[in-house]
Amino acid sequence: MKILLLGLALVCVSIDASAKTVLITGSNRGLGFELASQYAADGWTVIATARTPDDDAELQALATQYASVRIAALDVTDHSQIDDLADELRGTAIEVLINNAGILGDPGAQRLANLDFSAAEPLFATNTFGPLKIADAFLEHVEASKTKKIMNISSVVGSISLANGNIYFYRASKTALNMLMRNFAKDTAERGIIVGMIHPGVIDTDMSAPFDIPKVSVEESATGIRTVVDWYTSETSGTFMQYTGEPIAW
Ligand SMILES: NC(=O)c1ccc[n+]([C@@H]2O[C@H](COP(=O)([O-])OP(=O)(O)OC[C@H]3O[C@@H](n4cnc5c(N)ncnc54)[C@H](OP(=O)(O)O)[C@@H]3O)[C@@H](O)[C@H]2O)c1
Repeated sequence: MKILLLGLALVCVSIDASAKTVLITGSNRGLGFELASQYAADGWTVIATARTPDDDAELQALATQYASVRIAALDVTDHSQIDDLADELRGTAIEVLINNAGILGDPGAQRLANLDFSAAEPLFATNTFGPLKIADAFLEHVEASKTKKIMNISSVVGSISLANGNIYFYRASKTALNMLMRNFAKDTAERGIIVGMIHPGVIDTDMSAPFDIPKVSVEESATGIRTVVDWYTSETSGTFMQYTGEPIAW
């Protein structure tokens, strides 16, 4: 009887097969947390990944509020951890994969006359290669879904034509992300995969704290991003857009 009850309990907390699944990286704070909250409130199954989820009280509270939120530990620079999670989730169809986790690094170390090239490595590992590794590792999961979307939180500062100086390595990491994902879109188009690169706006999160410029709320950005994710089609796959849906020049 105990075993039967335990079995029932497991069924109750397991992923609802009829709900759509989104996997979000860096979902413990900032934009990732807001996206996880909004998708959960909208009835999605959310695989909310974070580097050190045991320390993330807000994310734990979200998972308590919504049984459809499943937390998984994932450092996007740890390729074997990415492979392990992909194996663990084999058989789970992921409608939308959102490569959100990112770092800015120290802006002071990315300024002319003060360039610290050792600062570039973690930026590329996190913002550029992590997303590609994750997209590649979870390709089967996304392909098994109906909508098949891989969305990348990029940045307008990665636009070459709009470049206006400073934060050299962060900019380059997002430009390179766009290049990798543009190619990923081409290589996976025949499999029906839809790839997006989305600028979330200058959002009022920890990352933008060093900059005293107008910011959008994280709620507005996440709401816009979710709409843009819906708008992406096979025709627009591989393009670069604002969270408002306007195209951004490369
Ligand atoms: N804020 C802006 O104005 C702005 C503008 C353009 C683009 N973006 C992009 O938007 C995305 C979200 O940024 P945000 O504003 O929400 O920044 P944030 O508040 O600083 O949050 C960054 C998130 O990324 C996670 N992260 C960092 N390195 C990671 C790693 N190696 N593995 C797993 N997770 C990692 C952080 O986790 P920890 O808590 O463990 O550090 C945190 O959850 C980023 O890709 C960023 O580049 C932001």
